[in-house]
Amino acid sequence: MMQIDQLKVNGISTPLGYHFDYLTLSWRFQSNDYHENLKFKIEISKDDCFEEIVFSGETNSFYNTYTITTAFLKPRTRYFWRVSVDEVSAISYFETGKMNEPWEADWISYQEPTFESVSFKKSFSVKKEIRSARLYSLGLGLYEVFINDRKVGEEYLAPGYHSYDLIQQYQTYDVTEYLQDRNEIAFLVGNGWYRGRFIFEGGLENIYGDKQKLISELHILYHDGSTEIIKSDTTWNAKTNEIVENSIYDGETIDFSSKYQPLTVIMDKESKQLLRERIDLPICNMESLEPLIFRDTANNLLLDFGQEITGWIEGMLPANKPKVSFKFGEILQNGQFYSANLRTAKQEFVILNNEKERFIRPRFTFFGFRYVKVEGLNEEEAQRFSAKVLHSKMEERFRFTSSHKKLNQLISNIRWSQKDNFLSIPTDCPQRDERMGWTGDITVFANTASYNMETRAFLGHFLKMVELEQEHLNGAVPFFAPFPKVADRDAQNPFLNSAGAAVWGDAATVLPMTLFRHFRDQGLLNSHLSLMMNWVDYIYRQDEERGGKRLWDFGFQLGDWLALDLGIPGTVFGATDSALIATIYYYYSASNTAKALKLCNDSSATFYSKLALEIRTALLTTYFIGDELQLSPVTLQSEVEQNRQEMGRLFGGIDISTRVDTQTGLSLLLRFGIYPSESARLKLVETLKERMSESNGALTTGFVGTPELPHALLESGLVSEAFSLLFKETSPSWLFEVNMGATTTWERWDSILPNGKISGIEMNSMNHYAYGAIEDFIIEKMVGINLPDIEDDTNTYQISPQYTEQLNWLTGRLDTVNGKIEVHWEIQNGIVNLKIDVPTRTRVHLILKNGESMALQTGSYQLNDVYLPE
Ligand code: BGC
Repeated sequence: MMQIDQLKVNGISTPLGYHFDYLTLSWRFQSNDYHENLKFKIEISKDDCFEEIVFSGETNSFYNTYTITTAFLKPRTRYFWRVSVDEVSAISYFETGKMNEPWEADWISYQEPTFESVSFKKSFSVKKEIRSARLYSLGLGLYEVFINDRKVGEEYLAPGYHSYDLIQQYQTYDVTEYLQDRNEIAFLVGNGWYRGRFIFEGGLENIYGDKQKLISELHILYHDGSTEIIKSDTTWNAKTNEIVENSIYDGETIDFSSKYQPLTVIMDKESKQLLRERIDLPICNMESLEPLIFRDTANNLLLDFGQEITGWIEGMLPANKPKVSFKFGEILQNGQFYSANLRTAKQEFVILNNEKERFIRPRFTFFGFRYVKVEGLNEEEAQRFSAKVLHSKMEERFRFTSSHKKLNQLISNIRWSQKDNFLSIPTDCPQRDERMGWTGDITVFANTASYNMETRAFLGHFLKMVELEQEHLNGAVPFFAPFPKVADRDAQNPFLNSAGAAVWGDAATVLPMTLFRHFRDQGLLNSHLSLMMNWVDYIYRQDEERGGKRLWDFGFQLGDWLALDLGIPGTVFGATDSALIATIYYYYSASNTAKALKLCNDSSATFYSKLALEIRTALLTTYFIGDELQLSPVTLQSEVEQNRQEMGRLFGGIDISTRVDTQTGLSLLLRFGIYPSESARLKLVETLKERMSESNGALTTGFVGTPELPHALLESGLVSEAFSLLFKETSPSWLFEVNMGATTTWERWDSILPNGKISGIEMNSMNHYAYGAIEDFIIEKMVGINLPDIEDDTNTYQISPQYTEQLNWLTGRLDTVNGKIEVHWEIQNGIVNLKIDVPTRTRVHLILKNGESMALQTGSYQLNDVYLPE
């Protein structure tokens, strides 16, 4: 049996009208045999019979990806591509957009001021038989398009959240089936991120523009070979519609009695230079959930969807309802609906003056919620509403189950926080007045995220936004992308008027390398080289200006964000020396860049390897005296520490006492191999052990230390410490959240206190994915699946499961381009039964606890191992 399927172009199946800087064709190959020598043939043709082949090539790569350049691509053309090997083959297609064809349509907008949603319409008739029709369009801020009252396409919240001042990604739709003799095309355009209230601290309006606008070209190809273009221009009509308020944070108000205001359509002079085919994935309705209905202790009627999600609700609204409202919240407090932690975000869906029974849903907003407070409906009427989960369309690729229910729930929570925050860009949270693309959060979560889902196109798109922003920041990477240029309006806020902190900015190198390790997309890696180099150069330049110490001890740093080791409830600051964190990340980014350049055969690799080495040396001389950790390094007095201390005093009224020997500091040194000798490493391990016992086995780490601590403990032989940490059920811990009924991962370890009360409302979300980074520990250490090294061409995974008394069994399964790799282990009377499935063209280097190691390839293996309790 041999099979080829899951054909993708740049990580997307059958992309229609996307931008292709390069083409990475990939596919899944499945077979029961290993097949050492296979050559896959790849052909691209303009027809599905492959008569006119425009490209052909061969690869024997074990990773089933093939990257080529795109010089041969023509605009608005469908290409079929085929991959074949022996007797099997599979065909798929992709289609280009307008590429550099000039737009014949005009941007249109309207004259009168309005903050309501606007409908742009045009009627036209079609006189001949149609062969195909494509719509190329973009409405800003957000839009939905209808042809003859039928919604076009399956996506919502188009075009997604982009740096609209730097790129304007238009969509392409196949509308062949939508057209009749007489037609009406209607665009509903809302405010969205473009002009609606957005960005923390009360929000800003009109960030990218002060009116909605639209550009649209409908290309019709007739059977007789002739063509026609219906394009946006001043012959279109515009008016307001029943959506009288719409905002990302606040929600939507529909008033069915509102008098539509006719608007004067004008040509918008905005240039078309920024228009480009999309690379952003569509946001789709991925799941539906039904509610439980109950009255809370204040007698409010509530819907409980049993799971915190991102999306909205929809359903049949009964006739004769003057006002119905739905308010969305994450948690209950004292048995009542609660939304104070959303800060200024209203998160409300209101329908006014509804006279007839009809289906309703919001269009230009989304909510982060588990509970919905309903007003204006009774139980039975409210029951007709279901929740729709919205996120960018991506496939899941990792499955986990085990004998430990709470661990399974934790994995579910992590996955949900990922889904809930993967809406166009990776956001910090989906509910409060924030929902921004914070770069640090995804830096620490990208590895876990890429096991869970095929993140290539999604994070690739985000990196594009980061790169575009970087071009305007002299190489720096912002704290979040898109990064609105509002510094002059909001000069006070350091997050808006500065850029380029460690971990956050290091998304520029961590994400490309993580994606490469998971998906082996050479085209994607190539496209990020300058982003990576510019980021490292940005730090390097400042380092040079300060004498080239190879320490990153300057600027504005966030350190180990939200760590607990200062012991000050509510503070965002951690105790770890932020110059230590920043310099380790400087080292990490320089090494990542060197590795990426090497993989792309770029000779600049030498510079970054040398730089990485120099940084490592500086770390060793600054932080060690002989084999001992230097507890009072000069960095404690550095510029960056002084800044941080001042911020602590200014914003929190606290004194920050900085140290290097924290759980975070020690874990970073161990994980990044920063120690001068084996005896120095052992001393670090000893100190880490002391730290763990001082905190009674609890973690004290924040965003930076948390992903590293469990790995560092296990890799240092502190096995029982690692597992007590993971399975700890009291606060602070992952399973404490599970015990408290969490269905997503919290922003803070103490988001909810043991007494069930929320710990604060200033910055407290129940749906942040950063601490979900623990999942890569579960995958790499407990299940034991480790991806092939980046230089490895043989597709060799290392599998080394770690058994533990807290579990009787577990199963972990990763979908790869060669099929599923699965590990199942079960402990019975001290013996471990181990089952491993290795897919085709995959090798495994298996390391067992009984001291054996073996090389496996394609097949199912049943083995015994020993369980040695610590
Ligand atoms: C966000 C974080 C983010 C942080 C950086 C917060 O408000 O929610 O997740 O990384 O700010 O300062």
